Amino acid sequence: MSDLKDKLSSIMNSNQERLAFWSQFVTQFDCKKVAEVGIRYGNFSARLLTDCKSIETYYMIDPWRHIDNGYNDLANVSDDEFQKIYDEAVAKVEFAKHKVQILRGTTSEVIDQIPDESLDFIYIDGDHTLEGITIDMIKWYPKVKPGGFIGGDDFSPSIFPHTFKSEPVLVFPWVVYFAKAMNEPLFGLSGQFVMQKTVDEEYSFTDLTGGEYEDISIRSKVVRGLWWYLVKAYIKPLYLRVKNLMKAT
Ligand SMILES: C[S@@+](CC[C@H](N)C(=O)[O-])C[C@H]1O[C@@H](n2cnc3c(N)ncnc32)[C@H](O)[C@@H]1O
Repeated sequence: MSDLKDKLSSIMNSNQERLAFWSQFVTQFDCKKVAEVGIRYGNFSARLLTDCKSIETYYMIDPWRHIDNGYNDLANVSDDEFQKIYDEAVAKVEFAKHKVQILRGTTSEVIDQIPDESLDFIYIDGDHTLEGITIDMIKWYPKVKPGGFIGGDDFSPSIFPHTFKSEPVLVFPWVVYFAKAMNEPLFGLSGQFVMQKTVDEEYSFTDLTGGEYEDISIRSKVVRGLWWYLVKAYIKPLYLRVKNLMKAT
């Protein structure tokens, strides 16, 4: 476990940027069968397929359609817009089409097309609501090989990391609870998580950020989110008004 911790810290220290981090991760752990849930424009897929020579198969999972079940994320645009986004994503990975398998559908719709214990790595970046992350973690976990990894985005200590208007983001701490339930080691990196599916390791949660994930309670997450909203909606505009008034006098 400390070996994994050292490797992750070293990748993180040399790659602050998200795509660079995952691209080195996939290369270093020699991941051959990789899946990504939530593709949008395909930037992440194209980067990994360009950088990581280890990849033999890359599953791209996304419905590329408007989801009408309360998933009010900003990424949930109209069907027409999604069609353009889909075309762009397909064009972006054209250079690697012999490795790519596009599965157009939600996790629940396509999961049966992936054999159990076949993936070296899956990156979860689809529906970040409580419903979405619950379905994704529970359905994808059996698809990962023993020794393989589940990583993901929006592992945010705040309940509203992007906007107050969408559903709360609950990837953190839900994934911590999931790792505890499955007795697996979990690592929190800035905004990202890595969980290993092990044979005989025990649950642990290692915060590699130096404190962002100190408190795993929902209470702390709500308080951070409300602070963020107060600052954005009231404190910052008030500060700017006072500053302008002082300039004018
Ligand atoms: C944040 S974007 C993905 C960004 C991409 N991973 C990247 O790094 O460039 C989220 C995507 O998740 C897709 N999505 C939403 N619900 C989903 C679900 N249940 N299963 C799979 N994908 C989903 C949306 O259509 C959207 O394109």
